[in-house]
Amino acid sequence: MHNPFSLSGKTILVTGASSGIGRATAIECSKMGARVFLSARNEARLCETLAMMEGEGHQFIIADLTEEEAIKALVDQLPQLDGVVLNAGVAGLVPTMGITSEKLLQMQQINLNAPILLTRTLVKKRKLNTPSSIVFTSSAAGVFRTSVGNAIYATTKCGIDAFMRTAALELASRGIRCNSVNPAMVETELIKNLPISEEEREKNLQQYPLHRYGKPEEVAYAIIYLLSDAAAWTTGTALKLDGGLTIG
Ligand SMILES: NC(=O)c1ccc[n+]([C@@H]2O[C@H](COP(=O)([O-])OP(=O)(O)OC[C@H]3O[C@@H](n4cnc5c(N)ncnc54)[C@H](OP(=O)(O)O)[C@@H]3O)[C@@H](O)[C@H]2O)c1
Repeated sequence: MHNPFSLSGKTILVTGASSGIGRATAIECSKMGARVFLSARNEARLCETLAMMEGEGHQFIIADLTEEEAIKALVDQLPQLDGVVLNAGVAGLVPTMGITSEKLLQMQQINLNAPILLTRTLVKKRKLNTPSSIVFTSSAAGVFRTSVGNAIYATTKCGIDAFMRTAALELASRGIRCNSVNPAMVETELIKNLPISEEEREKNLQQYPLHRYGKPEEVAYAIIYLLSDAAAWTTGTALKLDGGLTIG
């Protein structure tokens, strides 16, 4: 049966695949027929993801993406790719008055520098097929809304969306599409680690017309669309996934 959303025959790299959205994306891509290369730092959790996947030929490559040498080594170990999901990232609340160069650099290195340098290295080393698709896990934060204490995180995500659009323009002639998914709060370790009380969480949830945060698989399904041939005419797009949060 013809299915334009199928990833059958495609080879895809997913960063941040040891947890949350990246793990769900790796699992769902495998169910859609892709061969998936997973990357993150935590070997035990990458093995757990691998055990949850369907199909054959999946592999993981351990890399700390804040190190440029590790990015080069990762790319050298990869085969030709049809899709890339640049998803690894961290979050943290820092009030503007508490910002230091160290805190700025720390979040910037993994959320902004890593996906930019990885894109550059993949293209330079000709690892991306024609056609292929790069999907950045950006955020609703900064791009579609702002919130107190989120300045550094939101700035890194605005930056990655700006890079995504520029890369979409520059790489279109090579048949490489670039898009981002921009979720609001999704139930992963990342939000569990934020310093938010149960009361604040309940108040925050009330702002969502659908009355819940997203599930990692719901972001994975949007990523699958952008990786697939169904999105062959879509490039430079920031796809908002927010349970209606920013309607009002
Ligand atoms: N959850 C949300 O509400 C939400 C909303 C909008 C956007 N996002 C974005 O979605 C992406 C995934 O977040 P998540 O919610 O799934 O969080 P998560 O469960 O904490 O997963 C983060 C992933 O990033 C990897 N990672 C972190 N630092 C790394 C480093 N230095 N080198 C390589 N990998 C690294 C982690 O792997 P290791 O620790 O094994 O290295 C992990 O696999 C992030 O870019 C985040 O900003 C999340």
